[in-house]
Amino acid sequence: MSDKPYQNKAVIVTGASSGIGRALALRLADQGAWIALAARDAQRLNTLAEKCCRRSVKAIAVPTDVTDEAQCKALIERAMAEFGRLDMLINNAGIGATGLLEEFPNLTLFKRVMDVNFYGTVYCTYYAVKHLKLTQGRIVNISSLGGKAPLPYNTSYIASKHAVHGFSDSLRMELSRVGVSVTVICPYWVVTEFHERLMDKDGTPRGPQGRAIYSKKTMTADQCAAITLKAASKRKREVLMGPGWLAVWLRMIAPGLMDKITIEMVLKPAVRRAKKAQSKE
Ligand SMILES: NC(=O)c1ccc[n+]([C@@H]2O[C@H](COP(=O)([O-])OP(=O)(O)OC[C@H]3O[C@@H](n4cnc5c(N)ncnc54)[C@H](OP(=O)(O)O)[C@@H]3O)[C@@H](O)[C@H]2O)c1
Repeated sequence: MSDKPYQNKAVIVTGASSGIGRALALRLADQGAWIALAARDAQRLNTLAEKCCRRSVKAIAVPTDVTDEAQCKALIERAMAEFGRLDMLINNAGIGATGLLEEFPNLTLFKRVMDVNFYGTVYCTYYAVKHLKLTQGRIVNISSLGGKAPLPYNTSYIASKHAVHGFSDSLRMELSRVGVSVTVICPYWVVTEFHERLMDKDGTPRGPQGRAIYSKKTMTADQCAAITLKAASKRKREVLMGPGWLAVWLRMIAPGLMDKITIEMVLKPAVRRAKKAQSKE
């Protein structure tokens, strides 16, 4: 296999304005790909597009809110108009919200998480498929270990990522006859803006303290991007990062025990932290 499998390949990356998406774009630019960068923050996208173009590649910023089906359609059309082909779609845009389900004041936030993480993926994929069939292209969906292993206090996020897996695994079979691959990436923690933006039940982002969970050993966005692009080039089905295999395997053989461990290690500390924060208000 070529050491630059994405050279002169046309790629769309959603959620490209920060974190893993941005790192994917920069790695793709280094390989000479043509990139359509999508997210809502136009300024960040323009700066990134300029940076990519300085590496002598074609890169365009296409401000897009992936919760809007019409904007997703327009994103795919714009990339096709610019590049004349589409070789890979990376559905990476994602958000999260935490809290006990019963404590959310209503379901608006729950639906928003589903809209970004799941329907954003569905909309972009739906409009891209006919173009990807012409190039025997690739679909890459950035999920999470939470798409394989349930986590309390995160019902909307976990449900949205499980939905991404069901969608991807079914679609993979539909597209296998036309040579389009579907790769699902399940990162563990990655140093990005994700945990700063992670919202509480009222929609308030966690802020800089969200980064407290990272250590020196936490994977960087660039490392995650490198693993992702390698897996997509090999048309792998799924990549589990960090303790992914262990969690999935344990859940398969002892689901009740895994529930107990997860409740002790995740749910109880999360509820304690939330109560402590509330008492300080
Ligand atoms: N970081 C982790 O530990 C981790 C672990 C497992 C999985 N993941 C997954 O990795 C993916 C990338 O997240 P990240 O860690 O790189 O977080 P991040 O730095 O917060 O990036 C999230 C990206 O999604 C975009 N986005 C959010 N809402 C959007 C919308 N409505 N329309 C279009 N774009 C939208 C954001 O851009 P704008 O705000 O400009 O729209 C941003 O570019 C997500 O799917 C996340 O679930 C992350």
